[in-house]
Amino acid sequence: MTLFLHSAALDRKRIEATIERAREFRDGKRADLSDKIIGLLFFENSSRTRVSFEMAGMRLGARIVFLGPEGSSIKKGETELDTAKVLSCNGVDAMVVRTSVNDGPAQIAASIDVPVINAGSGVTDHPSQGLLDAMTLLDHFNDDIDGKTIAIVGDIAHSRVVRANAHILTKLGAHVRFVGADAMLPDASEDFPRNVTRHADLKDGLDGADAVMALRIQRERFDNRPDLIAACEALSINHDTIALAKPGAVVLHPMPMNRDVEISGALADDLAYSLLWKQMENGLFIRMAMFEAVMS
Ligand code: NCD
Repeated sequence: MTLFLHSAALDRKRIEATIERAREFRDGKRADLSDKIIGLLFFENSSRTRVSFEMAGMRLGARIVFLGPEGSSIKKGETELDTAKVLSCNGVDAMVVRTSVNDGPAQIAASIDVPVINAGSGVTDHPSQGLLDAMTLLDHFNDDIDGKTIAIVGDIAHSRVVRANAHILTKLGAHVRFVGADAMLPDASEDFPRNVTRHADLKDGLDGADAVMALRIQRERFDNRPDLIAACEALSINHDTIALAKPGAVVLHPMPMNRDVEISGALADDLAYSLLWKQMENGLFIRMAMFEAVMS
């Protein structure tokens, strides 16, 4: 089952049902996956996503086998697909894959007979992040983000979080803005949903925005781009720049953040604006709902 491989493939009903179920888990509902074994296959570093998938499995009673960037035979030259087969041949019931290869999880899913959840693929997608961001925004806006404007600022070109959000938030009726200089934006030839617009200027991009998402500069995904780094650093979100958005606007960030680079630490910690910590809490419940959906 390839339910959570591609954000673009999630329809509104599935998005809403997953968030609804995540809220039930948050409210204390239980489910039993104690007869399941989940494989976590992480070819890239991760703190939040790894811990929250791992904890989500544990909360459901499942057992977890983790294979990480250090310690696996990848270092001996084995391919990601052959590494995935180590888990599938040993009988895991589902596999969570994080990789820098854009279609890595899809390639693995096509070759093994186990549900694969995409936990972040190159610059292309990060469905669980898109779902937890949508849940956090729905919580904040009384369950309705239809017509709301979400401005995303920073290294959009290299962000898989952006691509997940562009699909998931627009399916819920939100308008998504990509805000940044040309160097920061995806190639014009890349396809995005209709409700996504591009804004070169921070003032124009934040004007009237209900929420602003800042992004980490993805230094590990490009070489030698001082122009891009300077452009991103010039658009830091802080108490001054958030004032360009609608009064009462909130701020998000998928984290890890570089404090006082793309977002000021003071704003990230200011709960009058910041939903960052709620995003992190909701990740656990979204991932419980994802596991339940692919394994029961
Ligand atoms: C993001 C990722 O890995 O894409 N982190 C996460 O999963 N919350 C964002 C990032 O690394 O900048």
